[in-house]
Amino acid sequence: MNYDVKDINLADKGRLRVEWARRDMPVLNAIRERFEREKPLAGVRIAACLHVTTETGVLAATLKAGGAMVHVCASNPLSTQDDVAAFLARDLKIPVFAVKGEDNQTYYRHIHSVLDRKPMLTMDDGADLVSILHTERRELLPGVKGGTEETTTGVIRLRSMADKGVLRYPIIAVNDADTKHFFDNRYGTGQSTMDGIIRATNRLISGSVFVISGYGWCGRGLATRAQGMGANVIITEVDPLKALEAVMDGYRVMPMAEAAPVGDFFCTLTGDIQVIRKEHFLRMKDGAILANSGHFNVEIHLEGLEKISTGKRTLREFVEEYRLKSGKKIYVLGEGRLINLAAAEGHPSSVMDMSFANQALAAEFMVKNRGKLGKKVHGVPADIDREIARLKLNSMGVKIDTLTPLQKKYLSSWEMGT
Ligand SMILES: NC(=O)c1ccc[n+]([C@@H]2O[C@H](COP(=O)([O-])OP(=O)(O)OC[C@H]3O[C@@H](n4cnc5c(N)ncnc54)[C@H](O)[C@@H]3O)[C@@H](O)[C@H]2O)c1
Repeated sequence: MNYDVKDINLADKGRLRVEWARRDMPVLNAIRERFEREKPLAGVRIAACLHVTTETGVLAATLKAGGAMVHVCASNPLSTQDDVAAFLARDLKIPVFAVKGEDNQTYYRHIHSVLDRKPMLTMDDGADLVSILHTERRELLPGVKGGTEETTTGVIRLRSMADKGVLRYPIIAVNDADTKHFFDNRYGTGQSTMDGIIRATNRLISGSVFVISGYGWCGRGLATRAQGMGANVIITEVDPLKALEAVMDGYRVMPMAEAAPVGDFFCTLTGDIQVIRKEHFLRMKDGAILANSGHFNVEIHLEGLEKISTGKRTLREFVEEYRLKSGKKIYVLGEGRLINLAAAEGHPSSVMDMSFANQALAAEFMVKNRGKLGKKVHGVPADIDREIARLKLNSMGVKIDTLTPLQKKYLSSWEMGT
């Protein structure tokens, strides 16, 4: 079997770490047991371009249990957990092409290696695989019946492809499921981003001025964590509604130009480009720490920072020091890539349980509805979303009320008033 991992001997460590993750993924475990019996993905070749983490290990095992032939590459050059990649290749016999720290050329070569398997279904996180499929590997498009997309940025790219009429097969936006973004983007990104920043720097958050760009699902999650740890949180936004929400939630809101001189930590979570750039770097305090947790490494304009710097050095793992002409130093974490995956381990398993339950059930839905869905971006069916929430609550031992017949009638009528 063909694969490219850092060191296959790391498989034992990966196996134990995946076992630990699985303990906290009851919904996906229940799906795996059903998939083992029913084999809903029998014979389906899946190209999965995902962060190769312990939870992805549990997802890959689930898809395989359902009868799929799964091939895996990384959706980010820095997010691969090499021990998990080794475990998938050695013990689950899944062709994996992912090495933490791979350069851009290797990253794309690995995407091509997975595409060489002629996928019938794509499972993407950020839409890099889908974009290569639609540009450099168009000969494979007739064989692809559908796909799923994990994150906000990927969904935005895919919607743009659909709007321009270039998307050649249907894709389910897993990100848009409530059981995904309510929890993964908010609580998962909130906690793991803070974890990444702390692991990289070991700096005290309490008492610091913590600037967060983007008050969407991810930004809100991080703001709550930073505030809870005693930081003085500033939000920067471009959407007046989100900005207003941040004000009402008790945060200071201001443009980046005003936040730049006062921030100790900066973290971007916008899905946008050049959110922090030259004019901001020049105004920052000596020692400012910059991180990104949005999908791509374009939110902090590193080329702009290089241009105004006289040199840079790696001070400790994941901490790059830029020396500006003025003598001031600015620190960038994890090369401006997703800090929660670069310096920490990504989201906790409990939230990935729901995200990847959506992936597994969306794949099953796609196979069942082969040929019936239009070439556009579809939502996750509401019954799948509810079922995942129900299973999660069950696993937590939380019970809820059900509507009485009278309540059902009342809620669907208009006649009764005061
Ligand atoms: N780190 C992770 O593990 C992880 C997890 C989920 C999503 N993501 C990524 O994080 C990013 C944000 O996702 P989300 O679900 O929060 O999206 P979202 O759409 O809910 O929020 C993004 C927010 O950023 C704001 N924004 C855009 N441009 C801005 C700018 N120049 N300055 C300030 N604010 C700006 C938008 O108005 C919006 O409110 C995406 O790239 C997504 O793919 C990362």
